[in-house]
Amino acid sequence: MILITGGAGFIGSNFALNWLADSASEGVVNLDKLTYAGNLANLEPLNNDLRHIFIHGDIGDKELVPKLLKDYQPRAIVNFAAESHVDRSIHDPAEFVATNIIGTFNLLESAREYWNGLNESAKKVFRFHHVSTDEVYGSLSLTDPAFTETDAYEPNSPYSASKAASDHLVRAWFHTYGFPVVTTNCSNNYGPYHFPEKLIPLVILNALNSKPLPIYGDGQQIRDWLYVGDHCSAIREVLTKGKLGETYNIGGWNEKANIDVVKTICTILDQLKPRSDGKSYAEQITFVKDRPGHDRRYAIDASKVERELAWRPEETFDTGIRKTVQWYLDNPAWVESVLSGSYRDWLKKQYR
Ligand code: NAD
Ligand code: DAU
Repeated sequence: MILITGGAGFIGSNFALNWLADSASEGVVNLDKLTYAGNLANLEPLNNDLRHIFIHGDIGDKELVPKLLKDYQPRAIVNFAAESHVDRSIHDPAEFVATNIIGTFNLLESAREYWNGLNESAKKVFRFHHVSTDEVYGSLSLTDPAFTETDAYEPNSPYSASKAASDHLVRAWFHTYGFPVVTTNCSNNYGPYHFPEKLIPLVILNALNSKPLPIYGDGQQIRDWLYVGDHCSAIREVLTKGKLGETYNIGGWNEKANIDVVKTICTILDQLKPRSDGKSYAEQITFVKDRPGHDRRYAIDASKVERELAWRPEETFDTGIRKTVQWYLDNPAWVESVLSGSYRDWLKKQYR
């Protein structure tokens, strides 16, 4: 077994689906608190797959996590669980400290105790993979080189500060206790099952629902976009071949200004599902107040993971964004349940 945390969220669910698509893969124990961002509908394709075991719970639960480790004896942990939305972290940072820092601390401590109790051969193969973000490196100017693994940490938002803190804990557990960790710092993901609070799914769904497409500030902020399936393949490579104690930057070499991302989505929608009035979806673009402390540019230098682990993304931005728009058009039931909030009803029923 492997244990993943946060596996009902956007990246974690894609990871579980990709992992279990290979019939030879080990089983997955999936621990998720099912916050507003956790959605069991993402995992529906695994409903009849006995290799997938879903556990509703918190990475910070000091009784549950040791029990899961004892019961399932995972040979690896991949930690996706986090509060992940920058805007939410600005309004209400407390949950970010609770899950991203304290939760990761509790998970590390439980995992270290479990690892200490393993026999020598199990101890050797075990690893703890921490999934993190490029935002820990802060913001770049237009002419700065892309982030490398040796760049200083300069987090600017409550979200990125909490992720930076978790990265430091993971690093320290390796250096102090010899606990076998790897960390990946990835750029902006997009793809299926992305919760529509983030730019790309928000714009696709607002466009289709005749709502404004909100662009913060001047829309010239740059993000480096990676298709979620490529992030999942990078995690698999690092989990299998990554060197313990190392960090790997993961990115798609796809730097785009926000306004260009939004215009690209509008052009694709104009082709795939033209507006009934014949106008372009770009008419719905609306510039709104900027995000406080908005980082100007992120860019990932992914040469280390390419050189050392021979990982390469399969999708370009053009192919990945087209697939993504098509996925949202092809999955109206998922979209409806998320937009109406009905995906949470099952939760109430099951877990009251
Ligand atoms: P998400 O918000 O879609 O999903 C997070 C999942 O974690 C949800 O299912 C939620 O229920 C669960 N969760 C939250 N708190 C928990 C807790 N205390 N215990 C157990 N589960 C909990 O996030 P995502 O976009 O899938 O991101 C996954 C990870 O990847 C995060 O660590 C994030 O920092 C990192 N990351 C995300 C991106 C991106 O572009 N989305 C890029 C780089 C790194
Ligand atoms: O870089 C990796 C990070 O990417 C991850 O660690 C985070 O978990 C993930 O949420 C994402 O953070 P961003 O803040 O970059 O993503 P978001 O989709 O919220 O915003 C992308 C850009 O678009 C950013 O510059 C803000 C802008 N934006 C966002 C929203 C939601 C808008 O202009 N309008 C919007 O309505």
